[in-house]
Amino acid sequence: MLIDIDFSGRHVMVFGGTTGINLGIADCFAQRRGRVTVVSRKQENVDAAVAQLQRHGGEVLGVVADVRDPQATKAAVDASVARFGPIDVLISGAAGNFLAEAKDLSPNGFGVVVDIDLKGTFHVMHSAYPHLSRPGASVINITAPQGQRPMPRQVHACAAKAGIDQVTRVLAQEWGPEGIRVNAISPGPIGDTEGVRRLVASNPQAKERAQARIPLRRFGELDDIGNLAMFLSSPFAGYLSGAIVPCDGGGSVEADRHRPE
Ligand code: NAP
Ligand code: COA
Repeated sequence: MLIDIDFSGRHVMVFGGTTGINLGIADCFAQRRGRVTVVSRKQENVDAAVAQLQRHGGEVLGVVADVRDPQATKAAVDASVARFGPIDVLISGAAGNFLAEAKDLSPNGFGVVVDIDLKGTFHVMHSAYPHLSRPGASVINITAPQGQRPMPRQVHACAAKAGIDQVTRVLAQEWGPEGIRVNAISPGPIGDTEGVRRLVASNPQAKERAQARIPLRRFGELDDIGNLAMFLSSPFAGYLSGAIVPCDGGGSVEADRHRPE
């Protein structure tokens, strides 16, 4: 069930928007008549995402780019702006992750996640900045609970997502005077996504245990995140900036974690 906010004619650009959560976000905006650009590394993912979004009625552009390359993010922005004009909604969600203890992680293994998640987010925001609608643009970075909560086998993602959280806050300060709002969404486990497959639900028992720790006792759905992204990008959230918004069924206040010994 989607919230009924009309994004007709609004330019929505989603980096990492060709699969999973970010494609879910792009799809919500397309269903609400946005003009949507999705960007990622793999041509086959871009083609499949564009086909899906077009089926759902959106005016869509797909661009292949790697967020680790600032020239590529700039070229993607230029192509999207040439097609749809100034950017009203910018989503930065490209990420890479895997489970590994620090002692088993090579410097390149640590660096690749920081490069995609943290440096990639900076490249995306920096490339888009001259083309953001002002006043009125909404920038949303996709972070994760790792940004606030230390987790073993996740030193790379914890460092990268904590960095994204601070980039979000600082650029909310710097860009606020121009009427640009900058927020982040921190999803909990969202069912049937690569993140859950890699990190949470390696077997049915692990999935059940993870769900039992969530106050609402379920994994999230793609529309849970898409609805929040649309709300954050609407005039109803016009005074909301610099926030890291959890969308996690209450996972960030999960009782077991705070139970006294
Ligand atoms: P996903 O399906 O693997 O999505 C990652 C997307 O980023 C894909 O479209 C991928 O496409 C793209 N991508 C990866 N590396 C890239 C690069 N270097 N340059 C450009 N695009 C790149 O993962 P997901 O599980 O849906 O996660 C999406 C976001 O939500 C991530 O930021 C993740 O940290 C966050 N998150 C997920 C969960 C969850 O439950 N899944 C929970 C908390 C936070 P290509 O392979 O074509 O590049
Ligand atoms: N454990 C330890 N190290 C790992 C690893 C793992 N499971 N997977 C990759 N690495 C290391 C590699 O060994 C390599 O380091 P090295 O050169 O010292 O050997 C480094 O990470 C880079 O790996 P590479 O495969 O060359 O990177 P890539 O750029 O092709 O892919 C990844 C990036 C590794 C993040 C890949 O998993 C990816 O593309 N992920 C995108 C999808 C995703 O992760 N979605 C979930 C989002 S929550």
